[in-house]
Amino acid sequence: MRLKTLLTLAALVAVLPLAAEEKGSDTKGKFYFKKNCKSCHTKGGAAADLTPLSKTQAQWKKYFEGGKHGKGGDAIAPKLGTPAQVLDIKTFLINHASDSPQPETCGG
Ligand code: HEC
Repeated sequence: MRLKTLLTLAALVAVLPLAAEEKGSDTKGKFYFKKNCKSCHTKGGAAADLTPLSKTQAQWKKYFEGGKHGKGGDAIAPKLGTPAQVLDIKTFLINHASDSPQPETCGG
């Protein structure tokens, strides 16, 4: 194999994982988080208050990779939102996690 071909292949392999990572919408995620999650996850609500600050970026990433909502093991999507909405919510929560560059409480 020629060196140039090898280098091109190496570059492709380096770029692929980035291209494969899905990106949701931060703004839509904030909207859907309030709409789909805060209904329960609020002070005095059915579940513990939850904001982006509740977890670190790594913890949110791990939580959504698990794909399960709570102890019962129910899937997050489609029960709590369409897969696209859940991806947006994931993006919003990670972007504003406690150790993110822009931590955000989402109105408490
Ligand atoms: C119908 C009410 C309800 C809605 C809506 C809801 N949750 Fe929950 N959630 C709960 C309850 C109750 C628990 C705790 C019991 C359990 O773990 O099953 C919980 C547990 C959790 C936990 C685990 C606690 C922790 O800190 O690890 C997370 C994270 C979570 N929910 C995130 C979400 C997200 C994100 C959404 C929106 C996509 C959402 N929830 C929507 C009721 C709800």
